[in-house]
Amino acid sequence: MTGQVRPSPKVEGSIQPDLNGLDRSELACVFEVVIVISDNRGVTVVMSNGLVTVTLSNPGGMVTGIQYGGINNVLETANSDNNRGYWDVVWARPGSNNITYDNLSTRSFKVIVQNDNQVEISFTRTWSNGGLPLNVDKRFIMLRGSSGFYSYAIFERSNGMPEVNIDQARIVFKVQENNFRYMAISDQRQRIMPIAADRINGQPLDYPEAVRLTNPRNSLLKGEVDDKYQYSCENKDNRVHGWISENPSVGFWMITPSNEFRNGGPHKQDLTSHVGPTVLSMFVSTHYAGEDLGMKFRNGEAWKKVFGPVFIYLNSASNQQKSALWQDAKSQMMKETANWPYNFPQSPDFLHSNQRGSVSGQLSIRDGGQNLMPAASAYVGLALPGNAGSWEYENKGYQFWTKADGKGNFLIKGIRPGSYNLFAWIPGTIGDYKYGPSVTITPGSNIRLSNIVYEPPRNGPTLWEIGVADRVAAEFFVPDPNPSLVNHLYKSFDKFRQYGLWNRYTEIYPHQDLVYTVGVSNYRRDWFFAHVTRHVGNGAYSATTWQILFDIRTVSKAGNYTLRVALASAHEAELQVRANNQNGAPIFTTGLIGRDNAIARHGIRGLYWLYSVGIPGSKLNNGRNIIFLTQARGSSPFRGVMYDYIRLEGPR
Ligand SMILES: *[C@@H]1O[C@H](CO)[C@@H](O)[C@H](O)[C@H]1NC(C)=O
Ligand SMILES: *[C@@H]1O[C@H](CO)[C@@H](O)[C@H](O)[C@H]1NC(C)=O
Ligand SMILES: *[C@@H]1O[C@H](CO)[C@@H](O)[C@H](O)[C@H]1NC(C)=O
Repeated sequence: MTGQVRPSPKVEGSIQPDLNGLDRSELACVFEVVIVISDNRGVTVVMSNGLVTVTLSNPGGMVTGIQYGGINNVLETANSDNNRGYWDVVWARPGSNNITYDNLSTRSFKVIVQNDNQVEISFTRTWSNGGLPLNVDKRFIMLRGSSGFYSYAIFERSNGMPEVNIDQARIVFKVQENNFRYMAISDQRQRIMPIAADRINGQPLDYPEAVRLTNPRNSLLKGEVDDKYQYSCENKDNRVHGWISENPSVGFWMITPSNEFRNGGPHKQDLTSHVGPTVLSMFVSTHYAGEDLGMKFRNGEAWKKVFGPVFIYLNSASNQQKSALWQDAKSQMMKETANWPYNFPQSPDFLHSNQRGSVSGQLSIRDGGQNLMPAASAYVGLALPGNAGSWEYENKGYQFWTKADGKGNFLIKGIRPGSYNLFAWIPGTIGDYKYGPSVTITPGSNIRLSNIVYEPPRNGPTLWEIGVADRVAAEFFVPDPNPSLVNHLYKSFDKFRQYGLWNRYTEIYPHQDLVYTVGVSNYRRDWFFAHVTRHVGNGAYSATTWQILFDIRTVSKAGNYTLRVALASAHEAELQVRANNQNGAPIFTTGLIGRDNAIARHGIRGLYWLYSVGIPGSKLNNGRNIIFLTQARGSSPFRGVMYDYIRLEGPR
């Protein structure tokens, strides 16, 4: 098989891509990348390497067909050409309620490279006047012998473009519902899914995304709850997910080999795959975080960012072996991840490995003047410069994260040149670390930061603590769901993903709010995972006050005690702290905080908050004391906080 560039045959036909109209002999050559550009009113472009054949609209750059493994089109042919495989953006002008959806349909098409080993094509549009103020370049790559294709996009604003808020950017695929019924997100999170019609026939619950399946086609699913947010995943774990067709036995997978281009850092959660059947890779969103995570461009700000490449991988197996397809998709994900940063994308804006640098080092902890401890399993990352913890809100730049080993050693490779801050947080330790000086990466640089030390907040010895300082509420009591509102997938793990747990609080504490007694209660059993509102009937919800009872034998009346309250999530909440006087003015209030919506979206975390509340010894008693924690904002079931960790420190 020689690798000469083949002439582009003309494809006759309508706007519907018609793969049958192609000369199959052009596509049968397994080891050769072939690009076929049809010229029938310029409406389609076809890329094929003999394994996979991809049809795109020209010049719109929508993926309209994927032929693979005996399926003529893996994408949903019942959907219009603009609703099968596409990039999209949700945006608005600042201060406007006109939220606009843009499917990033482009205006011109160009072949970037076409040779024996690779095809890369580009669909672009340049902003002129009106509409989304972005220049867009959508790229698609196919490699020889590769069972899939890559896509990435370059978004660019030149100086002086109009102001805009961009709250969402992603790539989307809708696969054939007739074939693809089984979804896999992780080793455990896999199941037969409902179809789209089951949701339409079902009973909408407290918000439209959650539906109880009352009349599903597959009767085994009857009575279950479906909600796409039950399939969310943290960025760091969101590397491969997709769908399996049993007959023929084919898998369709979204592989995201890096998080460098996603907003919000390693713990930001986002959607993955869900009923449709839909497959997403989310790059920018406000999910589980709030509007702070949207990109805001003001004063004509210039900006450019590369999103992706992601790899759309297809595999097949004999005999309906779902587990074989999943295992193979995972091992392909490992290969793609190991191969990052890719050296084949042709845009000069995507930097290859030799254009990047690295940072390594060792992080230790000194807590309250004690001996140095290794920052074991610390999350260490580079993000745009900002305050400690600002990476959780960062949304326009690139982030590069790793997890340190048991001794706090870390190595971050493949960093794009630029100026960053190095940030970290350590499971088991409160607060956020920021390395003082900014870190400047140049191509090929290997920066070594030895013996860097995090000194977490500490005013005195721990008198008691509740929970684990790990930025999630998973260790607390998570109730069983209402038996009529269950997703069977989460019966034995990840119970927090069940629908409606917010209403369980009122059922478990019908008369009196939660009371926790230090030394007697057990936070795994006695501390409800979310401090939610109380349902008082007729759709009304009221504030709630939790109590922590504890004893101090001899109070240092002149000393200062410190209450550390770390929150894993907050949604339209206000947390007030009182000591021994439930009705007086609070010692402390957070004020109105949070829009992460993690209670309604079944997240076990949103954004992290850490408060330090000084309690003068004069307010404490010898013997029994009570701290009152009031979530003061009622009116909705979804308002509240999730605690990460609480501790009382004595005077120094
Ligand atoms: C996508 O873009 C095309 C071209 O601008 C437009 O005709 C179509 O209506 C759009 N589809 C949606 C769902 O917005
Ligand atoms: C909303 O914005 C879109 C895109 O700029 C525009 O076409 C449309 O006319 C606007 N609608 C209103 C009601 O202003
Ligand atoms: C306790 O805190 C108050 C207010 O910050 C301060 O004035 C006082 O000196 C502190 N007392 C001790 C013993 O540190």
